[in-house]
Amino acid sequence: MILSLVFAGLAVASPLVQRDCPAVAGSPKYAAPKVAKGFTARVIITGLKTPRQLLFDSEGNLLVMQNRKELTAYKMAYDGGCVKTTGSKRVLDANLNHGVDLTADGKTLFASNIDKIWSWGYDAKEMKTTTPPVKWMEGMRNTDHTTRTLLLSKKVPGQLLVSLGSGANVDYRALDINSGISQIRAFDVSGPPKVYKYTDGKVIGWGLRNSIGLAENPVDGGIWSNENGSDDMKRDQKDIHETSPGEEVNFHGYLNGTASVEQGKNYGYPDCASTWGVENIPRNEGLAVGKQFYIGGSTTTDASDSKCQKDYIPARITLPPHWAPIDIAFNSKATAAYMTSRGSWNLANPDGYKVFAISFANGQPVHPASSTKAAIPILESGDLSSCKGVLAMVGLGTCYFRPSGIAFDPKGNLYVASEISGEVYVIQREDGASVDSVTLETPGKLMQ
Ligand SMILES: *[C@@H]1O[C@H](CO)[C@@H](O)[C@H](O)[C@H]1NC(C)=O
Ligand SMILES: *[C@@H]1O[C@H](CO)[C@@H](O)[C@H](O)[C@H]1NC(C)=O
Repeated sequence: MILSLVFAGLAVASPLVQRDCPAVAGSPKYAAPKVAKGFTARVIITGLKTPRQLLFDSEGNLLVMQNRKELTAYKMAYDGGCVKTTGSKRVLDANLNHGVDLTADGKTLFASNIDKIWSWGYDAKEMKTTTPPVKWMEGMRNTDHTTRTLLLSKKVPGQLLVSLGSGANVDYRALDINSGISQIRAFDVSGPPKVYKYTDGKVIGWGLRNSIGLAENPVDGGIWSNENGSDDMKRDQKDIHETSPGEEVNFHGYLNGTASVEQGKNYGYPDCASTWGVENIPRNEGLAVGKQFYIGGSTTTDASDSKCQKDYIPARITLPPHWAPIDIAFNSKATAAYMTSRGSWNLANPDGYKVFAISFANGQPVHPASSTKAAIPILESGDLSSCKGVLAMVGLGTCYFRPSGIAFDPKGNLYVASEISGEVYVIQREDGASVDSVTLETPGKLMQ
């Protein structure tokens, strides 16, 4: 009995060992990122210009938004289980920078730049647009954070979510809901085209400094974002920026009309931020990881830690400071949200040049909001010392591995763009199982 089970197990195991699949020759040209036990990562596309959001179309082609260069479509092939590209096509032009998504039926493509949003008819078989652009939005050019992440709901077709960040580290315009600053809003794009202003949209969340990663839980339709928090933070003149604020993973309810306490609410920025290093914060009575504290200096007359905790929605998960999270991809059963972070420039010891996962069950993270261990590392820069200081942030120097876009293909392989090196990695399981199907219960151990 035991013997036959063992044999049955052997019979179903895939013979493919992913680490034997070839990477693009000579890649990467820098210290290879560390990868969690059980996973493999290899470069399958090189030579890109600042790749940002990734997505798969209805024919399984990989679309890569190259910041101010083009949107490129790659034909994918699964050569004995080793994924590779077999050709590419320029789909859209250099006018775009970050946001891109497809409607639920896969037939309409939306893309953004700092100011505008357009849509095009899209033919996935031919990897090309089929109509001239339709303009949906203009007048967003009012911040120095330039990304306008787009999310087209697959659960409630016709709903387009747009995230717009702050214009400064601490931007007090965000205190006014009518400013449109540091918000996520929803727009109806199911009807005849109309050119919206950002403030025409329904507020999904506000007081969100710069929530670049946006995703919809594919099982229950819950909306999630990750937020890039403030730099150079002080409290009572004490510099606390090395350990606070934590970056935030926020929940925004559903788009199907079901009420939630979170939706449309204020998440605290610019007055309040998520606590990470409690012990370094002066007057830390009552603070704990994930609780919001008042950062000081506001025009809000009754601003205080207790107001931050009473009147604003806390992060569902708090991450270490300055990781700069930038994208989110749920697996198909929504048991994990895989996230990318571009990494810190505001830390003495660089951190956050990573791909990590947060385990989910029943639509919510498994870890409590007070946890410091929710992020399970999957991939991390192999040379953090190359990422010290402000120059690394702007792409000078040798800090090459900076994860940006992330997406699953229809077979459950995970893809990650590396912005400064201009590459796309595929992440797979060593044993040939799909990443999509993996259950992440215990923190992974990073291997070189
Ligand atoms: C909306 O989605 C939630 C989560 O899946 C579900 O519980 C609720 O019943 C849905 N509401 C409607 C009106 O369909
Ligand atoms: C996160 O915020 C910092 C500080 O404003 C900024 O330098 C960085 O570019 C932001 N990250 C992204 C991905 O926009």
